[in-house]
Amino acid sequence: MKEPIILAIESSCDDTSAAVLRGPLLLANVLNTQTVHVKYGGVVPELASRAHLSNIVPVVSAALEEAGCTPSDVQAVTFTRGPGLLGALLVGTSFAKGFSLANGVPLIEVNHLAGHILAPFIQTEANHTPPPFPYLSLLVSGGHTQIIRVESPSERKILAETIDDAAGEAFDKCAKAMGLGYPGGPIIDRLAKEGNPRAFKLAHPLKGDPNFSFSGLKTSFLYLLRDGLQKDPEFIARNQRDLAASLQHTIIEILLAKLKFHLAKNPIKHVALGGGVAANSGLRAALLRFGKENNLTIYLPALRFTTDNAAMIGIAAYFKYQEGIFADLSITASPRLAL
Ligand code: KG4
Ligand code: ZN
Repeated sequence: MKEPIILAIESSCDDTSAAVLRGPLLLANVLNTQTVHVKYGGVVPELASRAHLSNIVPVVSAALEEAGCTPSDVQAVTFTRGPGLLGALLVGTSFAKGFSLANGVPLIEVNHLAGHILAPFIQTEANHTPPPFPYLSLLVSGGHTQIIRVESPSERKILAETIDDAAGEAFDKCAKAMGLGYPGGPIIDRLAKEGNPRAFKLAHPLKGDPNFSFSGLKTSFLYLLRDGLQKDPEFIARNQRDLAASLQHTIIEILLAKLKFHLAKNPIKHVALGGGVAANSGLRAALLRFGKENNLTIYLPALRFTTDNAAMIGIAAYFKYQEGIFADLSITASPRLAL
């Protein structure tokens, strides 16, 4: 069977991305990370929508060009339907619908989280082996923290999710409290490399519970800063690296403890990491160690497939294409779409 050329669009948050795949093989993945939000210390939804509007045509054109394709080569177009910011999602949804109508190709809607979960199946030149089904996906992003039992491309069971903040949110909010930039995750990651992970003891909430919680950790971190600053106005500046290392260490500890809890009930030997926080160097190293100790195969995504990208939307769409699951033009963006 000849593999289809799929054009994929991702615009759920602050990255405008387009990818082109031939079957599971990635031909191009173009990403424009919006910088307009940096000075506000977080994503401003209306600014994100406007930036997507001006980015979408150049980003899609660049992806098609890099793939050596024209619009008439494309056999299906796919987009992120949700979850995400409504205005941002609308740009990708409308573009994909327009492309489908203008070029007479089927439309495929993809859940953003399914994209993160199925990202290990993206084939590249430097190929790797994807996990066999079923596998466990540890999905850690700015909006979600979940452990999912992935049965097949279309069937999955959520074993754990956060009852409050997501892991990425914990990184970002604590970094903001330290006066660091946005997004805070990569900055904490960099500082943590030179700090002592055991310098400060932070809260590890919901031990022994199936679900995650990060707000207690965030609160204990804020109290630590407040108390430290009372004694020493230079507390944060003096302890920046140790604070970052202790925070990162605790987040990793929480993630791995929960993974252990669910692996005990679901004896699965394959674990894939996904989502923006999957870029964290400490988490990647700790998960590999955890895999060795527990006789697991760990699948780490390439760094460019950790944060939001259209390649992951394209691979999720490829599975739907094979099953003949298409959307019609009445489809709408869905900001709170469940997995
Ligand atoms: O998946 P993603 O791009 O967007 C969402 O769907 O949320 O994830 C963004 C999150 C942010 O919270 C960001 O701080 C975090 O991923 N992140 C990191 C790292 N790189 C990105 N967190 C920790 N360490 C990193 N190196
Ligand atoms: Zn994401």
